[in-house]
Amino acid sequence: MEVVIVPDAAAGGELIAEAVAALLRRTPDALLGVATGSTPLPVYQALAAKVRSGAVDVSRARVCQLDEYVGLPAGHPESYRSVVLREVVAPLGLSPDAFLGPDGTGEDVLAACEAYEAALAAAGGVDLQLLGIGTDGHIGFNEPCSSLASRTRIKTLTEQTRVDNARFFGGDIEAVPHHVITQGIGTILDARHLVLLATGEGKAEAVARTVEGPVAAIVPASALQLHPHATVVVDEAAASGLELAPYFRATRAAKPSWQGL
Ligand code: GLP
Repeated sequence: MEVVIVPDAAAGGELIAEAVAALLRRTPDALLGVATGSTPLPVYQALAAKVRSGAVDVSRARVCQLDEYVGLPAGHPESYRSVVLREVVAPLGLSPDAFLGPDGTGEDVLAACEAYEAALAAAGGVDLQLLGIGTDGHIGFNEPCSSLASRTRIKTLTEQTRVDNARFFGGDIEAVPHHVITQGIGTILDARHLVLLATGEGKAEAVARTVEGPVAAIVPASALQLHPHATVVVDEAAASGLELAPYFRATRAAKPSWQGL
């Protein structure tokens, strides 16, 4: 995998937004897998700025969700559908018809998981999947010990993830659902390009285990080592646990300018 160390979150957002823009110039109807959480927001802001300046045309772009809470009522502001509509679809001026996501509101969760796998396949697969990372190394909502071959399914959140995400629910951990639908690790690995962004000291250990540890289900993000085109973008704080940081910096400095992410 390629590891790119950037000075700060804004630089990471700009770098990834430019990679997305380059993809959309090559493939105007690309399917972009988007992640929720705080980390990817600079990417969406940088991409929206490019749309406003005319640097990229997103009129044919499509976006899809990585995961969703189970049991929040339709339209709940913290459902990931609402978050993606608010943070990505609206600022980019995309049609809600250009958006795919699993249904976490229905009774039949298994059917919703199967329907989402089928919808992703029918859409031709994900061209670029943006990922954040949990403090425990999860991607999407694939908590530690998720099968590295898993497909979209229901998962139970760890206590740590519910604590981490309580800030979106007014600090009330009881308001954070226990169950979620998430693309499986196998589903995520089907995307043609994976781009993981991690920022801040709190992610340093998870990043080090992802990049330099063994591939192991205990660190779900380590599955990126199995992907032929995976890019990990980290700020200085998130890179602070990487032994190979000098190598990653030298590689980046010497990278030919014609090569994108
Ligand atoms: C949630 C999401 C993940 C995200 C993670 C980290 O668990 N399901 O996709 O990567 O939060 O969020 P943050 O970027 O806010 O730290």
